Amino acid sequence: MTRDRPGVLDTSDPATGGGSDNSSRPADRIIVIDHVTKTFQSKTKTVTAVDDISFDVMRGEIFGLLGPNGAGKSTLIRILTTLLQPTTGTAFLNNFEITKYPEQVRGIIGVCPQNSTLDLELTAYDNLEFYGKLVNVPDSMLDNRIWELLRMTDLSDRAYMPVGTFSGGMRRKLEIVRAFIHHPLILFLDEPTIGLDPEARREVWQQIASLNEEETTIILTTHYMDEAERLCNRIAFVDKGKLISLDTTDNLRRLIPAGDLIEIGVAEINDSAISELRASGLIHTVEYKDQKLIITAQNGSRVLPGIVAVFEKYGLPMTSISIRPPSLEDVFIYLTGKDLSGGGNGNVNANGRGHPR
Ligand SMILES: Nc1ncnc2c1ncn2[C@@H]1O[C@H](COP(=O)(O)OP(=O)(O)OP(=O)(O)O)[C@@H](O)[C@H]1O
Ligand SMILES: [Mg+2]
Repeated sequence: MTRDRPGVLDTSDPATGGGSDNSSRPADRIIVIDHVTKTFQSKTKTVTAVDDISFDVMRGEIFGLLGPNGAGKSTLIRILTTLLQPTTGTAFLNNFEITKYPEQVRGIIGVCPQNSTLDLELTAYDNLEFYGKLVNVPDSMLDNRIWELLRMTDLSDRAYMPVGTFSGGMRRKLEIVRAFIHHPLILFLDEPTIGLDPEARREVWQQIASLNEEETTIILTTHYMDEAERLCNRIAFVDKGKLISLDTTDNLRRLIPAGDLIEIGVAEINDSAISELRASGLIHTVEYKDQKLIITAQNGSRVLPGIVAVFEKYGLPMTSISIRPPSLEDVFIYLTGKDLSGGGNGNVNANGRGHPR
C-alpha cells in the first residue's frame, strides 16, 4: 500500500508504471476494503454484522454482494457510503479513506438504499430536484438532468404526479436514477429489485446495465441469483458477516467438485435406497428436500442409469428427472450449507460429513 498523503491510497499498479497513462493502465481498484469489522452492542448481546471483510472492486465493474438475510450486506454498504463508522478496519473509495475523507467520498458516490427514501407526497420531478440540490448539481444543469433521467425511466409523462401514485417498479427506477443524478463514480444499489415483478426487474436490470455503460462502477446487493449472474462481473458471497468466496460466476461454479446436479422428483424415499446410492460410488452428495432428491455427480448423464436402477429395485416411483450444471445458489449451498433465504441445511452428504469450507 503506497500512500502519498495519510488517508489517500495509491491504487495504481507499480509494475505497470502507476497512473501516468490512463489509456494503457489496467483496470485499477476503485474500492479497497481493508479488514472491515462492525459490531453492534446492546445491553444483552454483541452482534458482529461485518466480520473482518477485505476485498477490492475494480473501476467499471458491476460487483455483486450476495448473502441471506442478516449477512451484513447493508451494513457494509452503509460503512462504505460513510453512514456508519467501522468498528475496526477501513476502506478507500477512489483512493479516499472513508473515515478521514467522508465529504470527498460522498461527492463521488450515489446510493439507492434498501428501504425507499422517496418522498411520496412530492412529484417525481420534485423528488429529483430536491435530491439534485442536496448533492450539489449546479442549478444551471439540474433541469436538463432531471428530464434526462425521467426519459431514461420512461416517466416523463408522470413528471408532475406524486410518487405515491406510482407502481413499485416505477418508484424503484426513479430512486435508482435519482442516486445517479450527479454522475457519481460509484453507485451503490442495495436490493434494487426486491419485491418487483419479473418485468419490472428486467427493466431495472436494463437500467443498471446502461448506467454501467457510462463507466460507473456499480456495487449491488441482491438475494436473486439470476440477477447476480446476469449483471455482475464478480460476486462476493457473504454469510454471518464473513466473506465466504469471491470470484466470477464461472469460477464460483467450478468450486463444486462434483459438476452436475441431478434432481429427481420423488413422492417417497427410504434410507436403504439412499444407502445403496451412497455405496455405489456413483455420486458425490445427496440431499432430500421438498420431495426432491438432489444428487451431485461428476458426470450426470453417465451415472443416471445406475441411479434409476436403484429406484427400480426399491419400487420408488420418480415423478421427474433433470440434470443441470450447478447454479450460484447451489454453490452457495455447497459453501455454507444453507440457501439464500437463510434456511437451515437439512443436507445429507454422501460421505456423511458436512459441507467442506
Ligand atoms: N443499527 C443496528 N443495530 C443493531 N444491530 C444491527 C444494526 N444494523 C444491523 N444490525 C444487525 O447486523 C446484522 C446484519 O444486518 P444487515 O442489515 O447488514 O444484513 P443484510 O445482509 O443487509 O440483510 P438483508 O438481506 O435482510 O437486507 C443483522 O444481525 C442485524 O440485525
Ligand atoms: Mg440489507
